[in-house]
Amino acid sequence: MPFPIHRPRRLRRTEALRGFVRETRLSARSLIYPLFVCPGSQVKSEIKSMPGNYRWSVDLLVEECRAAYDLGIPAVILFGIPESKDETGTGAYDPEGIVQRAVRAVKKALPDLIVICDVCLDEYTSHGHCGLIKNGEIDNDSTLRLLAQTALTQVEAGADIVAPSDMMDGRVGEIRDELDAHGHTQIPILAYSAKYASAFYGPFREAADSAPKFGDRKSYQMDPANQREAMREIALDVEEGADIIMVKPALPYLDIITLARQEFDVPIAAYQVSGEFSLIEAAARLGWIDRERMIMESLTSIRRAGADIILTYYAKEVARLLG
Ligand code: PBG
Repeated sequence: MPFPIHRPRRLRRTEALRGFVRETRLSARSLIYPLFVCPGSQVKSEIKSMPGNYRWSVDLLVEECRAAYDLGIPAVILFGIPESKDETGTGAYDPEGIVQRAVRAVKKALPDLIVICDVCLDEYTSHGHCGLIKNGEIDNDSTLRLLAQTALTQVEAGADIVAPSDMMDGRVGEIRDELDAHGHTQIPILAYSAKYASAFYGPFREAADSAPKFGDRKSYQMDPANQREAMREIALDVEEGADIIMVKPALPYLDIITLARQEFDVPIAAYQVSGEFSLIEAAARLGWIDRERMIMESLTSIRRAGADIILTYYAKEVARLLG
């Protein structure tokens, strides 16, 4: 008997063979491109810790959305940087708020682009927390009303999907009720269900100037040590009416994505967050890694783990690389 009979290398010999038996494929069609919108006009200001990402004023944001759409990216998610912040995050649920204005402009120019709005207060509160403060704590139930109002104003401005990222208990149900009560029964909720209290959000907080002014987010975002709890969070969100669930960050939490894929039938999104992006960029600048290969490998791994949809700052670049 010739040895060995089994030679897995047979199917690795050429790129044609490798492509033929490849199990996981990336596609621009399942990417969401995160964008930051700020007041003013003709503003394109680079975020230092996220090279190649900008705070865009509404006029230029529309052009950036067009560029993404033309590359085959179906969806963007918008984060707002308001003119001013206050205790209760008024800018988040102002019908004339920065994100609401941005949605109107983008949907008018690109009706077929899926515009997703992040629902959270942290970019709009002076203290930088995702909820209202009561007796020095982040109060859950009084925050829910404001989140529901935020989602409603976004949808009334034209948002196709709302994505609560605050991690308050019960917010998916509260948002669902509010949207339904106003006739928006057809608008899906993409819930940031398993969102960890992560150091990987550092660069985003510079971008949105949303670092908490006191304390941290550990009383509402999840403990990085917990896996079972993520399944519980997802189950609750699905029960409350989440249409798509999200795991965030992505690469350090592949086990959570895989478990979620096994336990739930809803589409799963994963967020390759700012810190995951910036690590690759920083190492590439030092000449220590092959940047493009690392981008593609990290995203392929997130897909392989079980994510259907990926939010990534590399969306445009990946769409270009995939041709
Ligand atoms: C909260 C929110 C955050 C991110 C998305 N939505 C920041 C946070 O929880 O501090 C992080 C995204 C990233 O790091 O790329 N509105």
